Amino acid sequence: MALPPPFRPWLTVVCVLPVLMDQIPGVLQKCIYDEVQAEVRKVRLEPATSQGRGFYSQRLETNPRVGASPQPIRIHTWITRESDNLPEAERRRVMMAVEEGVDKVSSLLSVPRIVGPLLLSRDISKYCKFVWSNSGGANSNRCGRANVNYRNETCLDVTIPDQHLSGCYIYPQPDSPYRTVLRAEGSGVSDTDFLLYLHIGSTHKCRAEPDVWAYAAHCQTDTDGRPVAAVVVICRDRLTQQTYKHQATVQMVIHELFHVLGFSKDLFPTWTDCSTHTHGGAKCSPQKTVVRPDGSGQLRIFSPSVISVLQKHLRSSEPELGGLLENLHVSPGRGSSHWEALLLQGSIMTAVLEESSTVRIDPLTLAAFQDTGWYSVDLGRAQNLVWGQGEGAQFGSVSSCQNRTSAFFCSGSGLGCHFLHLHKGECQTDPYLEGCRIYKPLKNASECWKKENSVRSPGDKLRVEVWGRDSRCFFSNLSRHTHFPVDSSSVGGQCYRHRCTGPNSYQIQVSGSDWVDCPAGGTVQISGYQGVVFCPDRRLCLYPDVTPPSDDEDTASHTSPVQGGTWSTPLTNPTMVSVVILLLL
Ligand SMILES: *[C@@H]1O[C@H](CO)[C@@H](O)[C@H](O)[C@H]1NC(C)=O
Ligand SMILES: *[C@@H]1O[C@H](CO)[C@@H](O)[C@H](O)[C@H]1NC(C)=O
Ligand SMILES: *[C@@H]1O[C@H](CO)[C@@H](O)[C@H](O)[C@H]1NC(C)=O
Ligand SMILES: *[C@@H]1O[C@H](CO)[C@@H](O)[C@H](O)[C@H]1NC(C)=O
Ligand SMILES: [Zn+2]
Repeated sequence: MALPPPFRPWLTVVCVLPVLMDQIPGVLQKCIYDEVQAEVRKVRLEPATSQGRGFYSQRLETNPRVGASPQPIRIHTWITRESDNLPEAERRRVMMAVEEGVDKVSSLLSVPRIVGPLLLSRDISKYCKFVWSNSGGANSNRCGRANVNYRNETCLDVTIPDQHLSGCYIYPQPDSPYRTVLRAEGSGVSDTDFLLYLHIGSTHKCRAEPDVWAYAAHCQTDTDGRPVAAVVVICRDRLTQQTYKHQATVQMVIHELFHVLGFSKDLFPTWTDCSTHTHGGAKCSPQKTVVRPDGSGQLRIFSPSVISVLQKHLRSSEPELGGLLENLHVSPGRGSSHWEALLLQGSIMTAVLEESSTVRIDPLTLAAFQDTGWYSVDLGRAQNLVWGQGEGAQFGSVSSCQNRTSAFFCSGSGLGCHFLHLHKGECQTDPYLEGCRIYKPLKNASECWKKENSVRSPGDKLRVEVWGRDSRCFFSNLSRHTHFPVDSSSVGGQCYRHRCTGPNSYQIQVSGSDWVDCPAGGTVQISGYQGVVFCPDRRLCLYPDVTPPSDDEDTASHTSPVQGGTWSTPLTNPTMVSVVILLLL
């Protein structure tokens, strides 16, 4: 039978640019989002009472958002000046990927729009040496003495341009309205709900950890706790590689954006509960205990949409079915900012992003954004996760793979099919799987939907397989009858054409055969061939969104023009220091 070529495992860390395919086999890249975010001091946009120190929130209050219908979030990307040093071709392809990621996120998340320009706050603890105490004086809580060492506001290592910042003032007397201007009011950024500072460079973090492709951190939130500014750093060395992949870069950008927009362990406690929100304009209240340990001690997100989406996904009525968070590299009791890989394999928000055609913007991730209270989300726009569908409340625990009760897991190291059946796979594990094993795409020529793979699969000498857009992976030991005794071939993954005849109902065609029914959950033999084909149950012809990527997805960067809209060129600020963007590996 046809054996796939030698397997070389590859994994990319989610946060890492997808280009990583030629990393040392078996080495997992770690998403450093949580490390990076922990270094950042966050500023909350100042409340309206602190007049003279920014008017952002005053505007919000004079233009109440209640009643305003949510619109797709306007993400304004501001590129640091240093990023300009990139060769034009590289710059263009990265920008294409960033723009596509930003557009995708914007199409998924809606917010009540900010009225007027977005103006970020300055950190009073940095610019001020002495604040008038809160003793009822006219200037209480205002700054009485400037810090002479104050230079600028930064986010990660990116200096925020003064134009984006509110002014700051010094009140030398406790009661007198007389004030001096330490920094003038900036003009803000118009038509913007979120400011993304993008830095493409070779930062210290990029150099320190070869597996880091990108990283990110959020820096300011609005008065409801919604993040309004963040830095994303893309490590430029990774962009020059031959293996650069457009779609994987887009996914990395989306992953990082999701972190800084709310999927972050230090934002979970500030998610708000708007279920009691009335049209009268009652404020949403923080739902502080959204993350709690489950019976086994692993942390889960317990919020209404997450629970109901997971119940539906696993087909369970278990009321305490929270979204399980990754626990690898996390001290006990400390949260993390990724989904548990055993439960949400394939999700855009697991710590490791695999082959880009297997990564899904899944319903649970969108449910989480719905539950932040800051966004309105159309859950219908999620992609089917497939992984774990209908497997019950126990799915995602280590015991669910050890007992071999689930067909999503495998044992040994045999060949087979990735669970989406777009790829041939090999049974393997990785540190995030905690000893469980799954079929991961082969390193080489794994895609059944790529016609080119037929010439790259010299093992298929007896020509049973067919590659092409409608081909999928089947567990099979089919081979042609020959005049020689054939070694009894073990079952592996083979690529055959398929066509749907109904939900979970399909026919297959192998090289030179007619179309034959392949009963889901059963097997089929094909005349003229020896061996059997196993017909997967509930994996094919059920999920219309499980399709091969469109032909041009990895070449988009060569053809599509950059569209306007979200990009801005660096403003006049001449001293943008290194902008930090965190890409998760
Ligand atoms: C695919 O596998 C063959 C060996 O079977 C190897 O020579 C080739 O370099 C591999 N191609 C890639 C892109 O890794
Ligand atoms: C697996 O087996 C163990 C003990 O045999 C049992 O406690 C556990 O509930 C089982 N898990 C599942 C998912 O069946
Ligand atoms: C194919 O696999 C089936 C099931 O494992 C086995 O019964 C059969 O003998 C195999 N056939 C060949 C030709 O290897
Ligand atoms: C901002 O301040 C830092 C630290 O004081 C300094 O290194 C940097 O050059 C300053 N940037 C600008 C634009 O002034
Ligand atoms: Zn991450």
